[in-house]
Amino acid sequence: MNLLLTGGTGYVGSHAAVVMSEVGHQVVLFDNLSNSNLGVVKRIERITGTKIPFVEGDIRDTTLLEKTLRDFKVDAVMHFAGLKAVAESVHNPLKYYENNVQGSISLLKAMRTCNVKTIVFSSSATVYGEPSYIPYDEHHPTNPINPYGSTKLLVEKMLKDLSESDPEWKVVILRYFNPVGAHDSGLIGEDPKGIPNNLMPILNGVAAGEIPYLKVYGNDYQTKDGTAERDFIHVVDLIEGHLAALNYLNSHYGLEIFNLGVGNSTSVLELSQHFEAATNKKIFTKFVNRRAGDLPAYFADVNKSTTLLKWSAKRTVEDICASSWLWYKSRGINE
Ligand code: UD1
Repeated sequence: MNLLLTGGTGYVGSHAAVVMSEVGHQVVLFDNLSNSNLGVVKRIERITGTKIPFVEGDIRDTTLLEKTLRDFKVDAVMHFAGLKAVAESVHNPLKYYENNVQGSISLLKAMRTCNVKTIVFSSSATVYGEPSYIPYDEHHPTNPINPYGSTKLLVEKMLKDLSESDPEWKVVILRYFNPVGAHDSGLIGEDPKGIPNNLMPILNGVAAGEIPYLKVYGNDYQTKDGTAERDFIHVVDLIEGHLAALNYLNSHYGLEIFNLGVGNSTSVLELSQHFEAATNKKIFTKFVNRRAGDLPAYFADVNKSTTLLKWSAKRTVEDICASSWLWYKSRGINE
């Protein structure tokens, strides 16, 4: 298949480029490079041994999207492009609505014009909000607690309305839990511009001696060790979930929603200990106050993904930590 990957040079999109190419799909990457670098394309090409076409553009540019869909005879889209910093979304919500919602409208309009009606959309477990029960299954009520989550939920609703208006659409919405880790080659990984705020890039920074210690946000939660718990999923497992979703869409019209997680939780302290063991690096930690807007603990119910997509995450927390560190310490060397 010819696949358009929006956000194709980003953290998740770049791993998709590798996995999709390796199974024989032709990918074209579309990205405005707002949170990634052009060097990623060369590194994807090194891993796959394939020439990877790249279009620099913004998803709000409907005309350029239409041209790309036509030029590359695209059959299906994986829509990764979007902003995802929760705190920034609280301070600058319009930026999030503009990029995530308006950008998705632009993409869907271009797809409709070019008669490309198959899409896998990157959503987030953040759409669930305050848990009524754990683990979250796909029927859990949705009530996002920040603008970032609201933009994801709005796009989900738009996709639902669209698929109901026209039975030719094939849509899978994937609700990601916490994607972490990196490709085994060490050539691609999570490389946020500016100061990182997610846990894994900070663990890498502490191990490298660039950040003095990990601030553990809260050790008074009602959890196994008092620190928050998350469902950390290896990014390559996550992408294999996308492949399963694409295969599912071969024979299914309409819209379906799936959780992509491991199905259990790891605490912040546990992850930091696994990271120490996998990397042989000391992680200094300090307990500080809870971070505003954080939930204590949640993880995915993966029954639906396991049953219908015939997919489940295989990689361990050790794989996650080792691959993440390999990527981080080889950065620069690989440019
Ligand atoms: C958030 C979003 C998620 C988004 C993800 C990546 C919510 C509910 N979740 O996940 O949708 O995809 O960011 O942008 O909005 N932590 C520390 N110290 C640190 C950094 C983090 O203790 O320096 C803790 C956090 O308090 C949290 C856990 O580590 O409990 C994971 O944090 P993070 O990696 O930022 O992801 P989430 O907040 O879970």
